[in-house]
Amino acid sequence: MERVSIPRSPLGSDGYDCSALIVGGWQLSVGHREAVVDEADLFEALARMVRAGMTTFDCADIYTGVEERFGRFLAAHGSSLQAEGCPVQIHTKYVPDFDQLSRLDKESVERVIDRSLQRLGVERLDLVQFSWWDYGVPGYVEAARWLTELRAAGKIRHVGATNFDAVRMAEMLDAGVPLVSNQVQYSLLDRRPEQHMVPLAERHQFSLLCYGALAGGFLADRFLEQSPPEVPANRSQRKYRVIIEEVGGWTVYQRLLQALRTIADRHQVPIASVALRFAMDRPRVAGVMVGTFHGKHLESTLAAASLRFSDDDRALLDQATASLRDVPGDVFELERDSEGPHGRLMRRNLSDV
Ligand SMILES: NC(=O)c1ccc[n+]([C@@H]2O[C@H](COP(=O)([O-])OP(=O)(O)OC[C@H]3O[C@@H](n4cnc5c(N)ncnc54)[C@H](OP(=O)(O)O)[C@@H]3O)[C@@H](O)[C@H]2O)c1
Repeated sequence: MERVSIPRSPLGSDGYDCSALIVGGWQLSVGHREAVVDEADLFEALARMVRAGMTTFDCADIYTGVEERFGRFLAAHGSSLQAEGCPVQIHTKYVPDFDQLSRLDKESVERVIDRSLQRLGVERLDLVQFSWWDYGVPGYVEAARWLTELRAAGKIRHVGATNFDAVRMAEMLDAGVPLVSNQVQYSLLDRRPEQHMVPLAERHQFSLLCYGALAGGFLADRFLEQSPPEVPANRSQRKYRVIIEEVGGWTVYQRLLQALRTIADRHQVPIASVALRFAMDRPRVAGVMVGTFHGKHLESTLAAASLRFSDDDRALLDQATASLRDVPGDVFELERDSEGPHGRLMRRNLSDV
């Protein structure tokens, strides 16, 4: 395979950086899909991704079995990859259960962080991305401070956030929590971060790490000129199917895919490369997550790193996305509504500590 250079993005100001294309771990969790993953094949694919420059892995305390799996990968391949000059960075999340939010204390936060360290078999977590299900329950600033104390104690290198809106992100930053990032959905279909989050990130100089860039695989050739799947193949597809409805539905989405195909033809790449490049080019985006449970998409993923849009491409992207309805609200606002079509898909009690 041709060696592609994947850019690196600094996070924080201590010299730490991550790869601009990040291996997403949710797809490897128990319950994400029916298929059984052969771990030897998976590890071989992950090692190829790391050697190709996708050295950063994203997981979470609530992705069942994934921290353990990445831990086994690091135990088997971490040292040899490091010796080859390809050290792996681990980004995990701290997502306290909805039912536990009012009962958190520093000890319970530390227990979860210690569990992540132990599952991953590392002495320090490169990035812990903090989440909070319900702003109506006070305590997120305090919990973020406890994470900062665990950082001072050497267990965490950087503290970030995930799915926080601009108001609460600003509140934590103003309280002195040194957040380096917010992981949010940001894609051709979902431009919610542009309203408030990007300007805030500019002001406070934190980065965005984005998911949903491929809309769970919907922003790819395999769905071009296809009817909607009767049954979503996995949890990502369920999540992004409702985003497609939000922007106007299947026909509108198909018109976007056609436009992406036109651009992809100009560069002789798959649609997925165009969708990933679009996300990589967004303001303040330091890394784009690509969900995977095998290595079959590696080449088209890597093609995004060398793709450069022309003025004509950008004009067509503007035109194609202008015909989509805006997803309303700030980041994750729809998903917080537990009665709505987005929020009903969320599993709010997976941490189990
Ligand atoms: N913080 C949060 O709330 C949150 C939420 C969602 C995700 N995430 C993170 O983001 C990661 C990505 O998840 P996502 O849900 O946004 O999924 P995604 O990356 O938008 O889509 C992943 C799916 O797209 C397909 N795919 C991947 N690379 C491709 C390529 N080059 N060409 C064509 N198809 C490709 C694969 O499906 P097939 O293999 O079936 O083709 C894969 O399962 C997760 O693993 C997780 O780390 C975070």
